[in-house]
Amino acid sequence: MALGEGCPAAYAPLEELMLQRLGRECLYVPSCRLGLYVALRHWCRPGGRVLMSPVNDDVIFFVVLAAGLRPVQAPLRAEDGSIDLAAVPGSVWRGLSAVLTTNLYGNPDPAPELRSRCDQLGIPLLEDAAHAIGSTVAGQPVGTFGDASVFSLSKHTGAKTGGFLTVADPALRAGLERARDELLEPARLSAELAYGLRPYAEAGVRGLRLVGAARAALRLLGLQEREDIRMELRPGDLKRAQSAAPALAGFHSWVRVDMHDYRLRPGGLRLRRTERLLTRLDNRLADHRAGVQVLSATRWALPRPGPAQPLFRVPLLVEDRDAAIAALARRRITVGYLYDPPLDAYAGELFTDPSPAPGPAAWFARHALPVDPLRARSAIAVLTELGARPAEIPAAFATGTGTDGAGAGDAAATAWPGSRPTHSAGPHGRPDSDMDPPGRPHSRPVGGGDRGAHAGGSDTGRPAGPHSRPGDSPGQPSDTPTRAHSDTDRAVGPQGGGSD
Ligand SMILES: Cc1ncc(COP(=O)(O)O)c(C=O)c1O
Repeated sequence: MALGEGCPAAYAPLEELMLQRLGRECLYVPSCRLGLYVALRHWCRPGGRVLMSPVNDDVIFFVVLAAGLRPVQAPLRAEDGSIDLAAVPGSVWRGLSAVLTTNLYGNPDPAPELRSRCDQLGIPLLEDAAHAIGSTVAGQPVGTFGDASVFSLSKHTGAKTGGFLTVADPALRAGLERARDELLEPARLSAELAYGLRPYAEAGVRGLRLVGAARAALRLLGLQEREDIRMELRPGDLKRAQSAAPALAGFHSWVRVDMHDYRLRPGGLRLRRTERLLTRLDNRLADHRAGVQVLSATRWALPRPGPAQPLFRVPLLVEDRDAAIAALARRRITVGYLYDPPLDAYAGELFTDPSPAPGPAAWFARHALPVDPLRARSAIAVLTELGARPAEIPAAFATGTGTDGAGAGDAAATAWPGSRPTHSAGPHGRPDSDMDPPGRPHSRPVGGGDRGAHAGGSDTGRPAGPHSRPGDSPGQPSDTPTRAHSDTDRAVGPQGGGSD
């Protein structure tokens, strides 16, 4: 085993922490995307068809292709981007090999209903819970409905590395562990050092306000992998890679985007930092929940009765999303996790079955402004000053029901209650929200309030704690490039992932 490399036994403390959360078998993986690849390879034969959300990270799309599968884009609800089960035609259901949920921004897909549908069809349900580590549906954690589920430790946890593949059947563990280990690349001391130093380097760049310069340097060096929200598709290369699928190697240039270490065997430093952050996850989730409450009370949010979910991002619906992003950028608040256009529009029929009803997904992708709940107050102040108008869901896209992920009788646990907008109730079905001060959250302070864009922490005001170090705080100020796509390319170091 190479210097600094963690042996599989070194993953045990992390796996134990996750098992306590979920109550099911958990396998550490160096990234959520690798865990998903392992799961798809295990549960789906190459050539199969997987129902997935078109409003999703393109990396996930390429992981599905790498597993030798055909993505089938699901119709979504315009309100929240969750899978619209009722709009999936029978002919589509009949041809599927698996369903993959997204739980976009932490908002649950209708897992109980999808579970029973998959059971009827005899196909696996796979849950991507990357955004939903603390979310529940029907009183049950997201990630406990599927035959398998995958989590990312780069999101709420803020480790910028690692994830879990969790399975319903513990007997599958040994085989999956072998499959994971075969895919791992040996640890590199340089990558481990870069990982260790990265938070300090980022803090320095932020402190010196050098983000713009760092970004320009990346572009000059050809290390910026996304010029826009979606990465370049390169259809010719992709077709060639498909001819060798299922094999991850041919898809490396797409799958590694935003995280070059995605299949690197982790070293001790990574594992120790991740464990420290994972033990603090509940505090972090509480901060997310508090920010969600603040944002949910604004006129750009859908009403959310019941306890707030600790969403990873709150998709406010704004009419001119680009203007909002620009205004936020001027205050050095980065908006990331934009998935516009939807995957079927991005990749075309050569690579995916299009959604049978693409309108609502396209509308949501165009208007959703994913706001970090840890920056709730600052973001609200910017949107208020801008006079950002809430986007009105077109009547044609009204589904009439909420995300029914909570199942009957569990509305309180649902992120989106699904009350339909009515004209008398204002754009999002809430009381005339123009009369509501957008800063209504001021009457419900959460923590120390807005410490400004440079406060070096979140808007929820939880102190970083006496022992916190750079890199320990996932709620770092978004003093980073605008439209950062993910947690990793928020970095200003080479390639975000700081490896390769
Ligand atoms: C919905 C979704 N799933 C999975 C992933 C992949 O997570 P990781 O970066 O840990 O591989 C991402 C990354 O941003 C994501 O947004």
